Amino acid sequence: MSARIEAMAPPHLPPSSSVPFLDLGTTTAVVATEVRVGWEKVIASNRFVGGEEVEAFEEEWAAYCGTEYAMGVGNGTDALVLALRALDLGPGDEVIIPANTFVATAEAVVLVGATPRFVDVSLETGLMGADEVEAAISERTRAIIAVHLFGQLTDMEDLGRCATRHGLVLIEDAAQAHGATWRGIRAGAFGAVGCFSFYPGKNLGAFGDAGAVVTSDLGIAERIRSMRDHGRPGGSEDRHYNHVRIGTNSRLDTVQAVTLSAKLRHLDQWNEDRRRLARLYATELPPTVVPLGQLPHCRGAHHLMVVRVPQRDRVRAELAALGIGTGVHYPTPCHQLEPYRHWSPGELPNVERLSGQIVSLPMYPRLPDSDVLRVCEALAHVTADLEPVGDRLGE
Ligand SMILES: Cc1ncc(COP(=O)(O)O)c(C=O)c1O
Repeated sequence: MSARIEAMAPPHLPPSSSVPFLDLGTTTAVVATEVRVGWEKVIASNRFVGGEEVEAFEEEWAAYCGTEYAMGVGNGTDALVLALRALDLGPGDEVIIPANTFVATAEAVVLVGATPRFVDVSLETGLMGADEVEAAISERTRAIIAVHLFGQLTDMEDLGRCATRHGLVLIEDAAQAHGATWRGIRAGAFGAVGCFSFYPGKNLGAFGDAGAVVTSDLGIAERIRSMRDHGRPGGSEDRHYNHVRIGTNSRLDTVQAVTLSAKLRHLDQWNEDRRRLARLYATELPPTVVPLGQLPHCRGAHHLMVVRVPQRDRVRAELAALGIGTGVHYPTPCHQLEPYRHWSPGELPNVERLSGQIVSLPMYPRLPDSDVLRVCEALAHVTADLEPVGDRLGE
Protein backbone atom coordinates (compact mmCIF):
# COMPACT_ATOMS: atom_id res chain seq x y z
CA MET A 1 0.00 0.00 0.00
CA SER A 2 1.33 3.44 -0.93
CA ALA A 3 2.07 5.92 1.84
CA ARG A 4 -0.64 8.19 0.45
CA ILE A 5 -3.34 5.50 0.70
CA GLU A 6 -2.13 4.36 4.11
CA ALA A 7 -2.29 7.92 5.35
CA MET A 8 -5.80 8.48 4.06
CA ALA A 9 -7.40 5.17 5.04
CA PRO A 10 -10.02 6.02 7.67
CA PRO A 11 -9.79 4.09 10.93
CA HIS A 12 -13.00 2.14 10.22
CA LEU A 13 -11.48 0.85 6.95
CA PRO A 14 -8.69 -1.45 8.07
CA PRO A 15 -6.31 -1.80 5.10
CA SER A 16 -6.16 -5.56 5.53
CA SER A 17 -9.90 -6.15 5.05
CA SER A 18 -10.83 -7.11 1.55
CA VAL A 19 -14.01 -7.10 -0.50
CA PRO A 20 -13.58 -9.30 -3.57
CA PHE A 21 -15.10 -8.22 -6.86
CA LEU A 22 -16.70 -11.65 -7.18
CA ASP A 23 -16.93 -14.66 -4.88
CA LEU A 24 -18.24 -17.71 -6.70
CA GLY A 25 -17.98 -19.72 -3.49
CA THR A 26 -21.22 -18.26 -2.11
CA THR A 27 -23.35 -19.88 -4.83
CA THR A 28 -21.19 -22.98 -5.33
CA ALA A 29 -21.69 -23.88 -1.68
CA VAL A 30 -25.49 -23.84 -2.07
CA VAL A 31 -25.51 -26.50 -4.81
CA ALA A 32 -22.29 -28.43 -4.19
CA THR A 33 -23.90 -31.49 -2.56
CA GLU A 34 -26.66 -31.80 -5.14
CA VAL A 35 -24.18 -31.37 -7.99
CA ARG A 36 -21.86 -34.03 -6.55
CA VAL A 37 -24.75 -36.51 -6.40
CA GLY A 38 -25.74 -35.64 -9.98
CA TRP A 39 -22.15 -35.96 -11.24
CA GLU A 40 -21.81 -39.36 -9.53
CA LYS A 41 -24.81 -40.54 -11.51
CA VAL A 42 -23.29 -39.27 -14.74
CA ILE A 43 -19.97 -40.97 -13.94
CA ALA A 44 -21.78 -44.24 -13.20
CA SER A 45 -23.67 -43.99 -16.49
CA ASN A 46 -20.51 -43.34 -18.54
CA ARG A 47 -22.58 -41.05 -20.75
CA PHE A 48 -20.80 -37.70 -20.80
CA VAL A 49 -22.20 -35.92 -23.85
CA GLY A 50 -25.94 -35.34 -24.30
CA GLY A 51 -28.42 -37.62 -22.58
CA GLU A 52 -31.45 -37.05 -20.42
CA GLU A 53 -29.72 -34.53 -18.13
CA VAL A 54 -29.05 -32.24 -21.10
CA GLU A 55 -32.60 -32.64 -22.39
CA ALA A 56 -34.01 -31.97 -18.92
CA PHE A 57 -32.00 -28.77 -18.56
CA GLU A 58 -32.99 -27.64 -22.05
CA GLU A 59 -36.67 -28.06 -21.18
CA GLU A 60 -36.25 -26.24 -17.87
CA TRP A 61 -34.34 -23.38 -19.50
CA ALA A 62 -36.87 -22.91 -22.32
CA ALA A 63 -39.71 -22.89 -19.76
CA TYR A 64 -37.83 -20.40 -17.59
CA CYS A 65 -37.18 -18.03 -20.49
CA GLY A 66 -40.72 -18.39 -21.85
CA THR A 67 -39.67 -19.87 -25.20
CA GLU A 68 -40.58 -23.13 -26.91
CA TYR A 69 -37.06 -24.47 -27.33
CA ALA A 70 -33.63 -24.25 -25.75
CA MET A 71 -30.50 -25.82 -27.21
CA GLY A 72 -27.51 -26.29 -24.96
CA VAL A 73 -24.20 -25.42 -26.63
CA GLY A 74 -20.53 -25.17 -25.70
CA ASN A 75 -20.43 -21.50 -24.64
CA GLY A 76 -22.04 -18.10 -25.22
CA THR A 77 -19.85 -17.23 -28.20
CA ASP A 78 -20.92 -20.41 -29.99
CA ALA A 79 -24.54 -19.60 -29.09
CA LEU A 80 -24.19 -16.33 -31.01
CA VAL A 81 -22.36 -17.87 -33.96
CA LEU A 82 -24.88 -20.71 -34.26
CA ALA A 83 -27.80 -18.27 -33.99
CA LEU A 84 -26.38 -16.06 -36.75
CA ARG A 85 -25.73 -19.09 -38.95
CA ALA A 86 -29.19 -20.53 -38.32
CA LEU A 87 -30.62 -17.20 -39.47
CA ASP A 88 -28.51 -17.43 -42.61
CA LEU A 89 -26.55 -14.27 -41.88
CA GLY A 90 -23.19 -14.03 -43.57
CA PRO A 91 -21.12 -12.16 -46.16
CA GLY A 92 -22.74 -8.95 -47.39
CA ASP A 93 -25.05 -8.69 -44.37
CA GLU A 94 -24.69 -5.92 -41.85
CA VAL A 95 -25.51 -6.65 -38.21
CA ILE A 96 -26.03 -3.72 -35.85
CA ILE A 97 -24.40 -4.13 -32.43
CA PRO A 98 -23.55 -1.78 -29.57
CA ALA A 99 -19.90 -0.74 -29.34
CA ASN A 100 -20.08 -1.34 -25.59
CA THR A 101 -20.21 -5.10 -25.25
CA PHE A 102 -17.93 -8.02 -24.55
CA VAL A 103 -15.91 -8.71 -27.69
CA ALA A 104 -17.75 -12.00 -28.31
CA THR A 105 -20.76 -10.16 -29.79
CA ALA A 106 -18.58 -8.59 -32.47
CA GLU A 107 -16.46 -11.71 -32.84
CA ALA A 108 -19.51 -13.84 -33.67
CA VAL A 109 -20.64 -11.43 -36.40
CA VAL A 110 -17.18 -11.44 -37.98
CA LEU A 111 -16.82 -15.23 -37.63
CA VAL A 112 -19.91 -15.81 -39.79
CA GLY A 113 -18.52 -13.42 -42.42
CA ALA A 114 -21.07 -10.65 -41.78
CA THR A 115 -20.20 -7.00 -41.12
CA PRO A 116 -20.51 -5.54 -37.62
CA ARG A 117 -22.06 -2.08 -37.59
CA PHE A 118 -21.05 -0.59 -34.25
CA VAL A 119 -23.37 2.01 -32.75
CA ASP A 120 -23.28 4.28 -29.74
CA VAL A 121 -25.06 3.73 -26.42
CA SER A 122 -26.98 5.89 -23.96
CA LEU A 123 -24.86 7.71 -21.37
CA GLU A 124 -27.47 6.95 -18.71
CA THR A 125 -27.80 3.19 -19.22
CA GLY A 126 -24.79 2.18 -21.31
CA LEU A 127 -27.24 0.36 -23.62
CA MET A 128 -28.07 0.71 -27.32
CA GLY A 129 -31.67 1.82 -27.90
CA ALA A 130 -33.93 2.06 -30.94
CA ASP A 131 -32.83 5.65 -31.74
CA GLU A 132 -29.18 4.68 -32.04
CA VAL A 133 -30.15 1.64 -34.16
CA GLU A 134 -32.46 3.65 -36.41
CA ALA A 135 -29.66 6.06 -37.31
CA ALA A 136 -27.34 3.22 -38.35
CA ILE A 137 -29.65 1.23 -40.63
CA SER A 138 -28.51 0.93 -44.24
CA GLU A 139 -29.78 -1.07 -47.20
CA ARG A 140 -27.38 -3.89 -46.23
CA THR A 141 -28.62 -4.14 -42.61
CA ARG A 142 -30.23 -7.51 -41.90
CA ALA A 143 -30.14 -7.91 -38.14
CA ILE A 144 -29.82 -6.20 -34.76
CA ILE A 145 -28.16 -7.78 -31.74
CA ALA A 146 -29.55 -6.27 -28.53
CA VAL A 147 -26.98 -6.82 -25.79
CA HIS A 148 -28.54 -6.81 -22.32
CA LEU A 149 -25.33 -5.57 -20.79
CA PHE A 150 -24.88 -5.60 -17.02
CA GLY A 151 -28.20 -7.51 -16.75
CA GLN A 152 -30.29 -4.55 -17.99
CA LEU A 153 -32.72 -4.38 -20.89
CA THR A 154 -33.20 -1.45 -23.22
CA ASP A 155 -36.76 -0.54 -24.29
CA MET A 156 -37.50 -3.86 -25.97
CA GLU A 157 -40.87 -2.73 -27.35
CA ASP A 158 -39.26 0.21 -29.12
CA LEU A 159 -36.48 -1.97 -30.43
CA GLY A 160 -38.93 -4.66 -31.58
CA ARG A 161 -41.01 -2.07 -33.45
CA CYS A 162 -37.85 -0.68 -35.06
CA ALA A 163 -36.83 -4.18 -36.22
CA THR A 164 -40.30 -4.93 -37.61
CA ARG A 165 -40.52 -1.55 -39.39
CA HIS A 166 -37.27 -2.21 -41.22
CA GLY A 167 -37.71 -5.97 -41.74
CA LEU A 168 -34.70 -6.79 -39.55
CA VAL A 169 -34.11 -9.88 -37.43
CA LEU A 170 -33.80 -9.19 -33.72
CA ILE A 171 -31.24 -11.31 -31.85
CA GLU A 172 -30.61 -11.06 -28.12
CA ASP A 173 -27.22 -11.41 -26.53
CA ALA A 174 -28.54 -12.22 -23.06
CA ALA A 175 -25.24 -13.55 -21.70
CA GLN A 176 -25.45 -11.14 -18.74
CA ALA A 177 -29.21 -11.09 -18.26
CA HIS A 178 -30.51 -14.46 -17.07
CA GLY A 179 -33.96 -13.77 -15.64
CA ALA A 180 -34.04 -10.02 -16.38
CA THR A 181 -37.43 -8.83 -17.66
CA TRP A 182 -39.04 -6.02 -19.65
CA ARG A 183 -42.71 -5.67 -18.67
CA GLY A 184 -42.57 -9.20 -17.25
CA ILE A 185 -41.13 -10.88 -20.37
CA ARG A 186 -37.81 -12.55 -19.80
CA ALA A 187 -34.59 -11.82 -21.68
CA GLY A 188 -34.26 -14.24 -24.57
CA ALA A 189 -37.98 -14.30 -25.40
CA PHE A 190 -38.10 -11.06 -27.43
CA GLY A 191 -35.99 -11.85 -30.46
CA ALA A 192 -36.00 -14.57 -33.09
CA VAL A 193 -33.26 -16.09 -30.92
CA GLY A 194 -31.80 -15.42 -27.49
CA CYS A 195 -28.19 -16.35 -26.76
CA PHE A 196 -26.87 -17.17 -23.30
CA SER A 197 -23.49 -17.83 -21.77
CA PHE A 198 -23.22 -19.94 -18.63
CA TYR A 199 -19.59 -18.99 -17.99
CA PRO A 200 -19.00 -19.55 -14.24
CA GLY A 201 -19.29 -15.87 -13.26
CA LYS A 202 -22.64 -15.33 -14.98
CA ASN A 203 -25.92 -15.10 -13.01
CA LEU A 204 -26.49 -18.73 -13.99
CA GLY A 205 -22.99 -20.15 -14.25
CA ALA A 206 -21.78 -23.67 -14.98
CA PHE A 207 -18.69 -25.32 -13.46
CA GLY A 208 -16.90 -24.68 -16.74
CA ASP A 209 -17.89 -23.32 -20.16
CA ALA A 210 -21.47 -23.69 -21.36
CA GLY A 211 -24.12 -21.77 -23.29
CA ALA A 212 -27.60 -22.01 -24.82
CA VAL A 213 -29.76 -20.62 -27.59
CA VAL A 214 -33.49 -20.16 -27.01
CA THR A 215 -36.17 -19.68 -29.66
CA SER A 216 -39.83 -20.37 -30.33
CA ASP A 217 -39.18 -21.09 -34.02
CA LEU A 218 -39.04 -24.83 -34.70
CA GLY A 219 -37.00 -24.41 -37.91
CA ILE A 220 -34.31 -22.38 -36.13
CA ALA A 221 -34.28 -24.87 -33.23
CA GLU A 222 -33.79 -27.82 -35.58
CA ARG A 223 -30.99 -26.10 -37.52
CA ILE A 224 -29.13 -25.24 -34.33
CA ARG A 225 -29.56 -28.78 -32.92
CA SER A 226 -28.09 -30.12 -36.11
CA MET A 227 -25.29 -27.54 -36.49
CA ARG A 228 -24.04 -27.89 -32.91
CA ASP A 229 -23.58 -31.62 -33.62
CA HIS A 230 -21.56 -31.74 -36.86
CA GLY A 231 -24.64 -31.19 -39.00
CA ARG A 232 -26.20 -34.50 -38.05
CA PRO A 233 -29.89 -34.81 -38.90
CA GLY A 234 -32.48 -34.74 -36.14
CA GLY A 235 -34.51 -37.82 -35.26
CA SER A 236 -33.02 -40.27 -37.78
CA GLU A 237 -31.81 -43.62 -36.45
CA ASP A 238 -28.75 -43.83 -38.64
CA ARG A 239 -27.40 -40.42 -37.78
CA HIS A 240 -23.87 -40.87 -36.47
CA TYR A 241 -22.11 -40.59 -39.84
CA ASN A 242 -24.89 -38.78 -41.62
CA HIS A 243 -24.20 -35.06 -42.07
CA VAL A 244 -26.86 -32.96 -43.76
CA ARG A 245 -25.25 -29.55 -43.35
CA ILE A 246 -21.92 -28.04 -42.33
CA GLY A 247 -21.96 -27.93 -38.57
CA THR A 248 -19.48 -27.78 -35.77
CA ASN A 249 -18.95 -29.42 -32.39
CA SER A 250 -20.57 -27.29 -29.72
CA ARG A 251 -22.58 -29.53 -27.42
CA LEU A 252 -23.44 -29.03 -23.77
CA ASP A 253 -21.57 -31.45 -21.51
CA THR A 254 -23.78 -33.68 -19.37
CA VAL A 255 -22.02 -32.68 -16.14
CA GLN A 256 -22.63 -29.01 -16.94
CA ALA A 257 -26.33 -29.69 -17.56
CA VAL A 258 -26.53 -31.29 -14.10
CA THR A 259 -24.87 -28.24 -12.54
CA LEU A 260 -27.11 -25.80 -14.41
CA SER A 261 -30.32 -27.61 -13.43
CA ALA A 262 -29.28 -27.54 -9.77
CA LYS A 263 -28.41 -23.83 -9.94
CA LEU A 264 -31.48 -22.82 -11.93
CA ARG A 265 -33.67 -23.59 -8.93
CA HIS A 266 -31.88 -20.77 -7.06
CA LEU A 267 -31.58 -18.23 -9.88
CA ASP A 268 -34.64 -16.15 -8.97
CA GLN A 269 -33.54 -15.89 -5.35
CA TRP A 270 -29.99 -14.98 -6.37
CA ASN A 271 -31.29 -12.32 -8.78
CA GLU A 272 -33.51 -10.95 -6.01
CA ASP A 273 -30.44 -10.75 -3.80
CA ARG A 274 -28.60 -8.80 -6.51
CA ARG A 275 -31.56 -6.39 -6.87
CA ARG A 276 -31.58 -5.73 -3.16
CA LEU A 277 -27.82 -5.11 -3.17
CA ALA A 278 -28.20 -2.72 -6.12
CA ARG A 279 -30.83 -0.76 -4.17
CA LEU A 280 -28.52 -0.62 -1.16
CA TYR A 281 -25.68 0.68 -3.34
CA ALA A 282 -28.02 3.27 -4.87
CA THR A 283 -28.92 4.69 -1.45
CA GLU A 284 -25.40 4.57 -0.01
CA LEU A 285 -23.21 5.73 -2.91
CA PRO A 286 -21.70 9.20 -2.49
CA PRO A 287 -22.92 11.96 -4.85
CA THR A 288 -19.60 11.90 -6.71
CA VAL A 289 -20.49 8.47 -8.07
CA VAL A 290 -23.32 7.96 -10.59
CA PRO A 291 -24.78 4.46 -11.08
CA LEU A 292 -25.84 3.54 -14.61
CA GLY A 293 -29.60 3.68 -14.75
CA GLN A 294 -32.32 1.10 -15.22
CA LEU A 295 -35.28 1.92 -17.51
CA PRO A 296 -38.75 1.98 -15.90
CA HIS A 297 -40.16 -1.31 -17.26
CA CYS A 298 -36.94 -3.27 -16.82
CA ARG A 299 -36.44 -5.58 -13.87
CA GLY A 300 -32.71 -6.03 -14.13
CA ALA A 301 -30.70 -9.12 -13.29
CA HIS A 302 -27.88 -6.86 -12.00
CA HIS A 303 -25.08 -9.03 -13.31
CA LEU A 304 -22.76 -6.09 -12.75
CA MET A 305 -23.01 -2.98 -10.58
CA VAL A 306 -21.60 -0.32 -12.88
CA VAL A 307 -21.05 3.27 -11.78
CA ARG A 308 -19.43 6.31 -13.36
CA VAL A 309 -16.66 7.92 -11.37
CA PRO A 310 -14.30 10.84 -11.94
CA GLN A 311 -10.63 9.88 -12.48
CA ARG A 312 -11.57 6.22 -12.80
CA ASP A 313 -8.08 4.72 -12.89
CA ARG A 314 -6.93 6.61 -9.83
CA VAL A 315 -10.14 5.69 -7.97
CA ARG A 316 -9.72 2.00 -8.87
CA ALA A 317 -6.12 1.99 -7.72
CA GLU A 318 -7.06 3.58 -4.42
CA LEU A 319 -9.93 1.12 -3.90
CA ALA A 320 -7.56 -1.74 -4.68
CA ALA A 321 -5.14 -0.43 -2.09
CA LEU A 322 -8.02 -0.54 0.40
CA GLY A 323 -8.63 -4.18 -0.51
CA ILE A 324 -11.69 -3.57 -2.71
CA GLY A 325 -11.82 -5.46 -6.00
CA THR A 326 -13.37 -3.79 -9.04
CA GLY A 327 -13.62 -4.42 -12.79
CA VAL A 328 -14.15 -2.38 -15.96
CA HIS A 329 -16.76 -3.51 -18.48
CA TYR A 330 -15.29 -2.54 -20.85
CA PRO A 331 -12.12 -0.42 -20.97
CA THR A 332 -11.97 -0.26 -24.80
CA PRO A 333 -15.13 -0.01 -26.91
CA CYS A 334 -15.22 -2.73 -29.57
CA HIS A 335 -14.82 -0.34 -32.52
CA GLN A 336 -11.49 0.78 -31.03
CA LEU A 337 -10.07 -2.72 -30.47
CA GLU A 338 -7.23 -3.32 -32.92
CA PRO A 339 -8.78 -6.26 -34.86
CA TYR A 340 -12.13 -4.47 -35.17
CA ARG A 341 -10.97 -0.96 -36.13
CA HIS A 342 -11.49 -1.89 -39.75
CA TRP A 343 -15.26 -1.69 -39.07
CA SER A 344 -15.14 1.48 -36.96
CA PRO A 345 -17.82 3.97 -38.02
CA GLY A 346 -15.68 6.82 -36.58
CA GLU A 347 -16.32 8.56 -33.32
CA LEU A 348 -18.97 7.15 -30.95
CA PRO A 349 -18.90 9.85 -28.26
CA ASN A 350 -20.99 8.28 -25.48
CA VAL A 351 -19.33 4.90 -25.43
CA GLU A 352 -15.88 6.46 -25.71
CA ARG A 353 -16.67 8.72 -22.79
CA LEU A 354 -18.19 5.97 -20.67
CA SER A 355 -15.26 3.64 -21.23
CA GLY A 356 -13.02 6.09 -19.35
CA GLN A 357 -15.47 6.57 -16.45
CA ILE A 358 -17.10 3.24 -15.69
CA VAL A 359 -16.12 0.93 -12.90
CA SER A 360 -17.88 -2.27 -11.82
CA LEU A 361 -18.23 -2.64 -8.06
CA PRO A 362 -18.41 -5.94 -6.12
CA MET A 363 -21.72 -7.70 -6.88
CA TYR A 364 -22.70 -11.30 -6.28
CA PRO A 365 -25.44 -13.14 -4.38
CA ARG A 366 -24.77 -13.14 -0.65
CA LEU A 367 -22.34 -10.25 -0.83
CA PRO A 368 -22.70 -9.02 2.76
CA ASP A 369 -24.50 -5.67 3.20
CA SER A 370 -21.60 -4.59 5.39
CA ASP A 371 -19.28 -5.01 2.38
CA VAL A 372 -21.53 -2.79 0.23
CA LEU A 373 -21.41 -0.15 2.96
CA ARG A 374 -17.65 -0.48 3.14
CA VAL A 375 -17.32 -0.02 -0.65
CA CYS A 376 -19.56 3.06 -0.54
CA GLU A 377 -17.61 4.55 2.35
CA ALA A 378 -14.36 3.90 0.56
CA LEU A 379 -15.73 5.52 -2.61
CA ALA A 380 -16.84 8.57 -0.63
CA HIS A 381 -13.37 8.76 0.84
CA VAL A 382 -11.33 8.36 -2.35
CA THR A 383 -13.56 10.70 -4.42
CA ALA A 384 -14.02 13.36 -1.71
CA ASP A 385 -11.75 15.87 -3.49
CA LEU A 386 -13.13 15.16 -6.99
CA GLU A 387 -15.86 16.79 -9.07
CA PRO A 388 -18.70 14.39 -9.94
CA VAL A 389 -18.88 13.19 -13.53
CA GLY A 390 -21.22 15.36 -15.57
CA ASP A 391 -23.62 14.40 -18.33
CA ARG A 392 -22.49 16.94 -20.87
CA LEU A 393 -19.95 15.83 -23.43
CA GLY A 394 -16.57 17.39 -22.95
CA GLU A 395 -16.84 17.44 -19.15
C1 LIG B 1 -22.30 -9.89 -23.44
C2 LIG B 1 -21.60 -11.19 -23.67
N1 LIG B 1 -21.74 -11.83 -24.85
C3 LIG B 1 -21.14 -13.00 -25.10
C4 LIG B 1 -20.33 -13.61 -24.16
C5 LIG B 1 -19.60 -14.86 -24.53
O1 LIG B 1 -19.86 -15.93 -23.72
P1 LIG B 1 -18.76 -17.11 -23.51
O2 LIG B 1 -17.67 -16.54 -22.70
O3 LIG B 1 -19.54 -18.16 -22.78
O4 LIG B 1 -18.34 -17.54 -24.85
C6 LIG B 1 -20.17 -13.01 -22.92
C7 LIG B 1 -19.33 -13.64 -21.90
O5 LIG B 1 -18.56 -13.08 -21.21
C8 LIG B 1 -20.81 -11.75 -22.66
O6 LIG B 1 -20.67 -11.13 -21.50
